Amino acid sequence: FKNEIDTDFTLPQNQIWANKIRDKYKNISKEKPLKAYMVIDGKERESDEIKEVMDKSQFSQNVILGSCFMAGEDELKKAISVAKSDKDGWSKLDLAQRTQILMKVANEFRKNRGELIGMAAAELGKVFSETDVEVTEAIDFLNFYPYSVKKLSELDGIKLEHKGVGLVISPWNFPIAIAVGGIAATLATGNRVILKPSSDALLCAYMLCKCFWDAGVSKNTLQFTPTQGVLAGEHLVKSKDIDFVIFTGSEDTAYGMLSERPDIHLSAETGGKDATIVTALCDRDQAVKNVVASAFNNSGQKCSATSLLVLERELYEDAEFKKMLVDATLSLNVGSVWDLENKISSLVNIPSGNLRNALEHLDDGEKWIITPSYAQNGNPYMLRPSIRWGTKKGDFCHMNELFGPVLSVMCAEDLDDAIDIVNSTGYGLTSGIESLDEREVERFKDGILAGNLYVNRVTTGAIVIRQPFGGMGKSAIGSGKKAGGFNYVSQFTNITCETTTD
Ligand code: NAD
Ligand code: ALA
Repeated sequence: FKNEIDTDFTLPQNQIWANKIRDKYKNISKEKPLKAYMVIDGKERESDEIKEVMDKSQFSQNVILGSCFMAGEDELKKAISVAKSDKDGWSKLDLAQRTQILMKVANEFRKNRGELIGMAAAELGKVFSETDVEVTEAIDFLNFYPYSVKKLSELDGIKLEHKGVGLVISPWNFPIAIAVGGIAATLATGNRVILKPSSDALLCAYMLCKCFWDAGVSKNTLQFTPTQGVLAGEHLVKSKDIDFVIFTGSEDTAYGMLSERPDIHLSAETGGKDATIVTALCDRDQAVKNVVASAFNNSGQKCSATSLLVLERELYEDAEFKKMLVDATLSLNVGSVWDLENKISSLVNIPSGNLRNALEHLDDGEKWIITPSYAQNGNPYMLRPSIRWGTKKGDFCHMNELFGPVLSVMCAEDLDDAIDIVNSTGYGLTSGIESLDEREVERFKDGILAGNLYVNRVTTGAIVIRQPFGGMGKSAIGSGKKAGGFNYVSQFTNITCETTTD
């Protein structure tokens, strides 16, 4: 299995390509507004409920990028009955046929890499390199899931049956890769799929569905039902004709779904309170570079982002190391997504909830070493990275996911203390260590309770097959297996084992 390759934006020809995307999408809201339709029962459909999509890349925030027709109760019920009936016989295709179609879908993603990057920049303010890796991951999922179904079906005596109808509920922070991963796994196993995207990423979701339809997945097999979360809960999740849900979002929503449908197969990837531990035996330059990227890329809006930096006391008290961290953070360019030099652009939503709380309050003994501020004359979406220092066990920022560009630095007496600090959050998604000492690395691997452990590497950007992604504790609710891992697809099939006795 070969992973797809990301775009190298340092190459002159790729910079020319990126500039063309920028020129097209920067002005796209000045042209005819874009339209996304719900797609139910084989057709694009309009409805009375139209959601306006704002252009997040424009500073005024009052520019309309397009609109999307939203599904109501009747449309959602229709979508379920069409999916249930398997109108176009997707489940009758054999694995080779499904694989061939999904390979074609992967090609559509290759062709549309630039369009997807441009759309995510306009709709979500996502910088080019961050969407680029999403498209790569989407292509990997499309290639890998059919491959892993094949490997599973080759086991002696195993028979795989599709489960029926899968519902994919996707988030806004990875608007492409996570939706595509869910759809690809559902289709690879012979199921039909309904996509309910985040209301903050409607145009990206519609565009990615087009890649499936254009490559030969029918509009009855993949239906697109943009709708409000509450309606999705009421009329999709609660329906007995939905056989499984692949969900990415907050743990509250996941627990809510399970309480409504305790019988459902739920594969939920939820939040994280991820940490990087840096010991005195690290390579300091590498540690600072990795921590800054893990914490602040995509403005920290990643479930996998490092939001706790746990320093061994020797480093914690080292003024030079502290200065390196501050300088590296301040060197990140923050501003318009259309200036390709900018590493960090706007947030998807103005800070609220935990993030706002963290920006406005310090616990006793904490102080800012980079105070929160907003770029572009105080644009409330343009939050610059900030760092709080002296966070202690049990403090608000130790225990709560912020989902923004705020890093909290904690002091540990030694590695065991650091591991205890990390494990006590109750989450368990990603964790990193920066250390050149093998015994420390082994101790870290043995002691940390998290799904993805990284050594001398950033804590984000898991690679399909090489770093199957998924957590434990509050980070994985329901019966989730790791995305991009060999057994992920098994949960969407009914497996029978045929054994013969002499
Ligand atoms: P959210 O739970 O509010 O929403 C996620 C999705 O669920 C959206 O599409 C929303 O419309 C839908 N939804 C809301 N209520 C629903 C209901 N009752 N029934 C069915 N669907 C419903 O989360 P969010 O704020 O959009 O996303 C941020 C969260 O997602 C963070 O906690 C983050 O850590 C998590 N996340 C996790 C991963 C991962 O892989 N572990 C990846 C990305 C984001
Ligand atoms: N899979 C994403 C990452 O690893 C969330 O960052």
